[in-house]
Amino acid sequence: MKVCITHDIPGPAIQLLQDQGFEVSLSIRKPLGRAELLEFVKGADAVIPILTDKIDASVFEAAGPQLKIVANYAIGFDNIDLEEAGRRGVAVTNTPSQTITDAVAEHTLALMMALSKNIIAADKCVREGNYCGWDPNLLIGTQLLGKTLGIVGLGRIGTIVARLAVNGLGMRVIYTGPNRQEDFEKDFEAKFLPLDSLLASSDFVTLHVPLTADTRHLINGQKLSKMKKTAYLINTSRGPVVNEVDLVAALKNGVIAGAALDVFENETAVSPELRRLENVTLSPHIASATKEAREEMSRIAADNVIAVLSGQKPINSAFISP
Ligand code: GLV
Repeated sequence: MKVCITHDIPGPAIQLLQDQGFEVSLSIRKPLGRAELLEFVKGADAVIPILTDKIDASVFEAAGPQLKIVANYAIGFDNIDLEEAGRRGVAVTNTPSQTITDAVAEHTLALMMALSKNIIAADKCVREGNYCGWDPNLLIGTQLLGKTLGIVGLGRIGTIVARLAVNGLGMRVIYTGPNRQEDFEKDFEAKFLPLDSLLASSDFVTLHVPLTADTRHLINGQKLSKMKKTAYLINTSRGPVVNEVDLVAALKNGVIAGAALDVFENETAVSPELRRLENVTLSPHIASATKEAREEMSRIAADNVIAVLSGQKPINSAFISP
């Protein structure tokens, strides 16, 4: 049986699949253009795409009726048309695991630290020869102890971010989401608030929602205007959860103090306006890019393919919120 992997992925997946006797076809073009993707998946029994591959009806059609599983190499699966997969009886899986959750949560904290301690500007200052001796006014940041972190979306990642922030940094946590989580509230002395109140009360706001029709542009100009002028926004979820044009305006006009983004509305051409701003810290969608997490993603994707092509249920299905 044939497994098509659309990108060179780190970790043990290829070996695990070959050990099972599957034919593994690995794309050497990165990333695959649309026409190349349609050609590449022809005849596949399983496809392992990356999150930039849009897997819709035309991909299922191009692959053919023998396709049994699309095992996304990502936690998020907004790139896959789940309804179409369901209609065709194709299993769709993602790669949730504690290691990946921890990696993204750690990156969120790294971005918050970078913002609060001016790490990017500090690095630039020294590197460019602008540091000429200790100056009491130089690059004054903000303390995290006692500050309020607003978590939008209390799934697995949001929960670990809360734990690190409360236990590790002594921050206060407030959260919002579709449901109240009373155990969480007790464990972390956390408070549930509606989104607007959370935005108005937070020193840092961090987004941990999946991208859906409901969360697209959840954070727009109107929501940004609810935030404190001294507050920061962190996004490690999906770019389109934030209206980037509105965010750039808010950052330029001092509506909020700054932002840290790991994800963008257009990931192949990040907005030049955003890149020019000094009050943003940017990383290139690497929140889950730890050696440990990448290996686990690879193993989970392969295990899902092996299970389904052996006639068993996948080890997980892409319906669990990140
Ligand atoms: C990364 O963004 C992922 O969804 O795994």
